[in-house]
Amino acid sequence: MTKTDENLKSAFAGESQANRKYLAFAQKAEKEGFTQAAKLFRAAAEAETIHALNHLGIRDEIESTLENLDAALGGETFEFTKMYPEYLEVAKQEGNKQALWSFDVANKVEQVHANLFQKAIDALKAKKELEKVDYYVCGTCGNTVEGEPPEKCPICGAPQEKFFKPS
Ligand SMILES: [Fe+2]
Ligand SMILES: [Fe+2]
Repeated sequence: MTKTDENLKSAFAGESQANRKYLAFAQKAEKEGFTQAAKLFRAAAEAETIHALNHLGIRDEIESTLENLDAALGGETFEFTKMYPEYLEVAKQEGNKQALWSFDVANKVEQVHANLFQKAIDALKAKKELEKVDYYVCGTCGNTVEGEPPEKCPICGAPQEKFFKPS
Protein backbone atom coordinates (compact mmCIF):
# COMPACT_ATOMS: atom_id res chain seq x y z
CA MET A 1 0.00 0.00 0.00
CA THR A 2 1.43 3.41 -0.93
CA LYS A 3 1.41 6.29 1.52
CA THR A 4 -1.39 7.89 -0.50
CA ASP A 5 -3.43 4.67 -0.28
CA GLU A 6 -3.00 4.79 3.49
CA ASN A 7 -4.00 8.45 3.51
CA LEU A 8 -7.09 7.71 1.42
CA LYS A 9 -8.04 4.97 3.86
CA SER A 10 -7.55 7.20 6.85
CA ALA A 11 -9.35 10.16 5.23
CA PHE A 12 -12.26 7.85 4.37
CA ALA A 13 -12.51 6.81 8.03
CA GLY A 14 -12.29 10.41 9.23
CA GLU A 15 -14.87 11.77 6.79
CA SER A 16 -17.23 8.87 7.55
CA GLN A 17 -17.01 9.62 11.25
CA ALA A 18 -17.49 13.34 10.67
CA ASN A 19 -20.68 12.56 8.74
CA ARG A 20 -22.24 10.66 11.64
CA LYS A 21 -20.93 13.09 14.22
CA TYR A 22 -22.40 16.09 12.39
CA LEU A 23 -25.77 14.34 12.16
CA ALA A 24 -25.66 13.79 15.93
CA PHE A 25 -24.65 17.45 16.40
CA ALA A 26 -27.58 18.50 14.16
CA GLN A 27 -30.01 16.53 16.36
CA LYS A 28 -28.62 18.23 19.45
CA ALA A 29 -28.78 21.68 17.81
CA GLU A 30 -32.40 20.97 16.87
CA LYS A 31 -33.18 20.07 20.49
CA GLU A 32 -31.53 23.24 21.71
CA GLY A 33 -33.56 25.30 19.23
CA PHE A 34 -30.64 26.22 16.97
CA THR A 35 -32.40 25.37 13.70
CA GLN A 36 -29.84 27.14 11.53
CA ALA A 37 -26.90 25.41 13.19
CA ALA A 38 -28.72 22.11 12.67
CA LYS A 39 -29.08 22.93 8.96
CA LEU A 40 -25.40 23.76 8.70
CA PHE A 41 -24.42 20.49 10.40
CA ARG A 42 -26.64 18.52 8.05
CA ALA A 43 -25.24 20.26 4.96
CA ALA A 44 -21.66 19.67 6.12
CA ALA A 45 -22.55 16.04 6.93
CA GLU A 46 -23.70 15.51 3.33
CA ALA A 47 -20.46 17.06 2.06
CA GLU A 48 -18.37 14.77 4.25
CA THR A 49 -20.20 11.80 2.78
CA ILE A 50 -19.26 12.99 -0.70
CA HIS A 51 -15.62 13.28 0.37
CA ALA A 52 -15.72 9.83 1.98
CA LEU A 53 -17.17 8.27 -1.17
CA ASN A 54 -14.66 10.07 -3.40
CA HIS A 55 -11.77 8.76 -1.29
CA LEU A 56 -13.21 5.24 -1.18
CA GLY A 57 -13.86 5.12 -4.92
CA ILE A 58 -10.18 5.69 -5.71
CA ARG A 59 -9.04 2.67 -3.71
CA ASP A 60 -10.91 0.12 -5.80
CA GLU A 61 -12.69 -1.37 -2.82
CA ILE A 62 -16.04 -1.30 -4.53
CA GLU A 63 -16.30 -4.49 -6.53
CA SER A 64 -19.19 -6.45 -8.00
CA THR A 65 -22.24 -6.82 -5.77
CA LEU A 66 -21.46 -10.46 -5.07
CA GLU A 67 -17.93 -9.52 -3.96
CA ASN A 68 -19.29 -6.61 -1.93
CA LEU A 69 -21.77 -8.92 -0.19
CA ASP A 70 -18.86 -11.23 0.63
CA ALA A 71 -16.83 -8.31 2.02
CA ALA A 72 -19.83 -7.19 4.09
CA LEU A 73 -20.33 -10.73 5.41
CA GLY A 74 -16.64 -10.86 6.35
CA GLY A 75 -16.83 -7.56 8.21
CA GLU A 76 -19.99 -8.45 10.12
CA THR A 77 -18.62 -11.88 11.02
CA PHE A 78 -15.41 -10.36 12.36
CA GLU A 79 -17.48 -7.98 14.48
CA PHE A 80 -19.70 -10.55 16.14
CA THR A 81 -17.15 -13.34 16.50
CA LYS A 82 -14.08 -11.33 17.56
CA MET A 83 -14.42 -7.60 17.99
CA TYR A 84 -17.59 -7.21 20.05
CA PRO A 85 -17.00 -10.28 22.25
CA GLU A 86 -13.65 -8.74 23.24
CA TYR A 87 -15.13 -5.29 23.73
CA LEU A 88 -17.96 -6.76 25.81
CA GLU A 89 -15.47 -8.52 28.06
CA VAL A 90 -13.54 -5.31 28.70
CA ALA A 91 -16.71 -3.27 29.27
CA LYS A 92 -17.81 -5.90 31.79
CA GLN A 93 -14.48 -5.73 33.61
CA GLU A 94 -14.64 -1.96 33.66
CA GLY A 95 -18.28 -1.93 34.73
CA ASN A 96 -19.35 0.36 31.89
CA LYS A 97 -23.05 -0.50 31.63
CA GLN A 98 -23.87 1.88 28.77
CA ALA A 99 -21.05 0.54 26.64
CA LEU A 100 -22.12 -3.01 27.52
CA TRP A 101 -25.63 -2.31 26.21
CA SER A 102 -24.37 -0.59 23.08
CA PHE A 103 -21.83 -3.34 22.25
CA ASP A 104 -24.33 -6.07 23.11
CA VAL A 105 -27.11 -4.91 20.79
CA ALA A 106 -24.62 -4.14 18.01
CA ASN A 107 -23.10 -7.59 18.45
CA LYS A 108 -26.52 -9.23 18.11
CA VAL A 109 -27.51 -7.12 15.13
CA GLU A 110 -24.25 -7.84 13.27
CA GLN A 111 -25.19 -11.51 13.46
CA VAL A 112 -28.56 -10.66 11.91
CA HIS A 113 -26.77 -8.70 9.18
CA ALA A 114 -24.43 -11.60 8.51
CA ASN A 115 -27.44 -13.90 8.05
CA LEU A 116 -29.11 -11.44 5.68
CA PHE A 117 -25.92 -11.00 3.63
CA GLN A 118 -25.40 -14.78 3.53
CA LYS A 119 -28.93 -15.24 2.25
CA ALA A 120 -28.33 -12.70 -0.51
CA ILE A 121 -25.02 -14.35 -1.43
CA ASP A 122 -26.68 -17.77 -1.66
CA ALA A 123 -29.39 -16.40 -3.92
CA LEU A 124 -26.93 -14.62 -6.22
CA LYS A 125 -24.70 -17.68 -6.41
CA ALA A 126 -27.69 -19.81 -7.33
CA LYS A 127 -28.40 -17.17 -10.00
CA LYS A 128 -31.70 -16.43 -8.36
CA GLU A 129 -33.35 -13.07 -7.98
CA LEU A 130 -33.24 -11.71 -4.46
CA GLU A 131 -36.62 -12.01 -2.82
CA LYS A 132 -38.48 -8.70 -2.97
CA VAL A 133 -39.03 -7.78 0.65
CA ASP A 134 -39.04 -4.61 2.70
CA TYR A 135 -36.50 -4.13 5.44
CA TYR A 136 -37.27 -2.39 8.71
CA VAL A 137 -34.66 -1.01 11.09
CA CYS A 138 -35.14 -0.58 14.83
CA GLY A 139 -34.42 3.04 15.68
CA THR A 140 -33.12 2.03 19.11
CA CYS A 141 -30.75 -0.87 18.44
CA GLY A 142 -30.45 -1.11 14.66
CA ASN A 143 -32.07 -4.55 14.48
CA THR A 144 -32.82 -5.20 10.83
CA VAL A 145 -35.84 -7.30 9.87
CA GLU A 146 -37.41 -8.47 6.64
CA GLY A 147 -41.07 -8.13 5.80
CA GLU A 148 -43.01 -6.50 8.63
CA PRO A 149 -41.73 -4.84 11.80
CA PRO A 150 -42.32 -7.02 14.88
CA GLU A 151 -44.62 -5.85 17.67
CA LYS A 152 -41.64 -5.65 19.94
CA CYS A 153 -37.98 -5.62 18.95
CA PRO A 154 -36.61 -9.07 19.88
CA ILE A 155 -33.19 -7.58 20.53
CA CYS A 156 -33.87 -4.43 22.57
CA GLY A 157 -37.57 -4.64 23.41
CA ALA A 158 -38.46 -1.36 21.66
CA PRO A 159 -42.08 -1.09 20.47
CA GLN A 160 -43.08 -1.45 16.81
CA GLU A 161 -43.32 2.34 16.30
CA LYS A 162 -39.55 2.55 16.70
CA PHE A 163 -39.05 0.67 13.43
CA PHE A 164 -38.59 2.62 10.21
CA LYS A 165 -38.22 1.67 6.58
CA PRO A 166 -35.02 2.98 4.97
CA SER A 167 -35.58 4.44 1.50
FE1 LIG B 1 -23.90 -4.73 10.69
FE1 LIG C 1 -34.29 -2.88 18.76
